[in-house]
Amino acid sequence: MSLAHDLRTDLALLLTRATVWTHARLGDAGARVLSLHPDEDPYPDYERIRALGPVVTSRLGLRLTAAHRLCVEVLRDHTRFGTMPVSDLYPTDLGLRHDGAHAFVHPIEDSFLALNPPEHGRLRRLVAPLFGPRALRGHLPMIESVVAGHLDRVAESPRFDLIGEFAARVPIGVIAALLGVPESEREDFLRWGGVVAAALDGVRSPAQLRRMRAVLTQLAEFCAELVAHRGRHPGDDVVSLLVAATPDRPALARKDLFATVQLLLLAGFETTVNLIGNAVRLLLADERARRDFVSDPDSAEDLAEEVLRYQPPIHYTIRVTREPVELGGVPLPAATPLVVLLAAANRDPEVFAEPNRFQPDRANAREHLAFSSGAHYCLGAGLARLEGALALRALFQRLPGLRAAGPVRNRPSRNVRGPLVMPVAPR
Ligand code: HEM
Repeated sequence: MSLAHDLRTDLALLLTRATVWTHARLGDAGARVLSLHPDEDPYPDYERIRALGPVVTSRLGLRLTAAHRLCVEVLRDHTRFGTMPVSDLYPTDLGLRHDGAHAFVHPIEDSFLALNPPEHGRLRRLVAPLFGPRALRGHLPMIESVVAGHLDRVAESPRFDLIGEFAARVPIGVIAALLGVPESEREDFLRWGGVVAAALDGVRSPAQLRRMRAVLTQLAEFCAELVAHRGRHPGDDVVSLLVAATPDRPALARKDLFATVQLLLLAGFETTVNLIGNAVRLLLADERARRDFVSDPDSAEDLAEEVLRYQPPIHYTIRVTREPVELGGVPLPAATPLVVLLAAANRDPEVFAEPNRFQPDRANAREHLAFSSGAHYCLGAGLARLEGALALRALFQRLPGLRAAGPVRNRPSRNVRGPLVMPVAPR
């Protein structure tokens, strides 16, 4: 990467940021959503977008929808709406794709999450059975033992960080076991995951860009080693399966292989940590909900479902029109980016009664869009639900008197939302 390229990129980033900031100040609803401070409550802005109409135009050249019905329509219609990386909302040549001979493989932008059917299905089908209900039943003892192990570690401390020492550890332990990642390598995940997740709504500064480049390089090196190791010592893990070419399937191209492994690794924990973190934060702030849960730990699945509705880990995704379309009566030209506000759809009063109330026994909480919809419906939804419910049940059974023990720090993202640090005391 040349110095001139670096300078051009830095300048472009600063200009983009200034443009979004200026439009936000001028009251542009879309620019507001993209420039909210992670500590700000985004829901009043989502309500403003809902009040403005089913499809809202932003001066940034994009549209947004908060309507559950329209979000579902867009997410399920792959002919009219294609994928587009969320980071393109902050369009800059980041130099991530043009460095060396494909040194970087982006876990989101190069993976099947970014592909449209039918290419998308070819890669998704390879790994889908490994996350299906039968496979999950087989993983249950492993997940329970990961949860119990981490609880044992924190239960006796007078004070601990619920996120760093529990909520993040559980999904990392589980996905690393599924992918056959040795224990010694797992420490780096926390850091890598944090950097990639923070960039999911666009790289905002030159410093963040440099962190992202460094992490993508390390991820590529890590993948190369893991793939080589599993090629030599195959097991019954996901990577061994992907590495092995079979008579009816040729070996995957390096980019597809690395992107799939990276996507599974990062999607596997950067989201579930926030399901657990958001749930605990809500319960510690709502004495009645906590009492109800402690007296009925088997309601953990319902609790997790309502947390996913009320405070989802991923707030929005993005699609682009593939042809001129009409959406909610609004004509949209081809190539229009559309922000699908999953978190706002989850509070649509046309679907959820009293949507701004956290109500763990809500009958239709499962209609939420926290896992998206259509072909890209989260592949790990079953795993995340299982991990979330098991972790929450075990945590509050073992530590029913758990309480907040210091200020919470939020993740530095507008899209991936949840606590980053949350000091708690076991009793
Ligand atoms: C609470 C936890 C989770 C949440 C909220 C979540 C959310 C999402 C969302 C919103 C999407 C779709 C984005 C779009 O339509 O553009 C997605 C896709 C995906 N998720 Fe999750 N996820 C979670 C956990 C997991 C886990 C544990 C895995 C483990 C493997 C995983 C793997 C994936 C994969 C592979 C995709 C891509 C699916 C495709 O494109 O076909 N996720 N997730």
